[in-house]
Amino acid sequence: MRRPLIAGNWKMNLNRAQSVALAREIAAGLNGSLSADVAVFPPAVYLDAVIAADTGLAVGAQDVNENADGAFTGEISCQMLCDLNVTTVILGHSERRNLLGETSEQVQRKTLAALRAGLTPIVCVGELLEQRQAGQTDQVVLEQCRTSLAGLSAEQMLQTVVAYEPVWAIGTGQVATPAQAEEVHASIRQWLSKSFSPATAAQVRILYGGSVKADNAAELLSQANIDGALVGGASLKAESFLGIIRATETQKVA
Ligand code: 13P
Repeated sequence: MRRPLIAGNWKMNLNRAQSVALAREIAAGLNGSLSADVAVFPPAVYLDAVIAADTGLAVGAQDVNENADGAFTGEISCQMLCDLNVTTVILGHSERRNLLGETSEQVQRKTLAALRAGLTPIVCVGELLEQRQAGQTDQVVLEQCRTSLAGLSAEQMLQTVVAYEPVWAIGTGQVATPAQAEEVHASIRQWLSKSFSPATAAQVRILYGGSVKADNAAELLSQANIDGALVGGASLKAESFLGIIRATETQKVA
């Protein structure tokens, strides 16, 4: 059964005190709510502070390096994240793919490294506006899935979350319609079914990301193949993030 997951990607925002305060405010507002799994992804330098605040929220990193150790200036390894009690990591976010040139091959190496370290990878895929306009959405997204998730066993796939984030919907206020999002989520699940097994595909959570807000979350989450949200801007305020989490209360637990 797929339990909804609402993930807040704070990107390169907030300072230390604000990060801790936001995590505390979210946890307080949840008040033990069990309708969804909730995770927050602070900037790496504040992971320790947010984890030390002991809010009960899952705390994740926004990226990790695929190597175990060595001469990789500025990078952070999976073991370093585990050392901090980080449990999950976002990989292949479109901002890393498009602004920093991260490839699906790199994302695949990071995914395997994260899985080996016992971290839950959230692997992001999504098309650019011009790719959607050219009718290439499925092709682009499924190719990203094929390469980024290559070589995973079915068991590893079950430990992995996929996030569909159309690039044109990120930070633009231009959310995909529930039907547009559902269509891509359904293709990803079909691909998972063919590549792993129907039983595996039925259990993998596929999140939608891109301008999710409290007032559009319920409709997106009501779609059969949308199992949660990866939220940017609206995760930076407790009230709007809690509004999105509350939208899961009325949803199916498929
Ligand atoms: P916004 O919610 O700000 O559109 O960002 C989405 C995102 O990139 C989450 O990873």
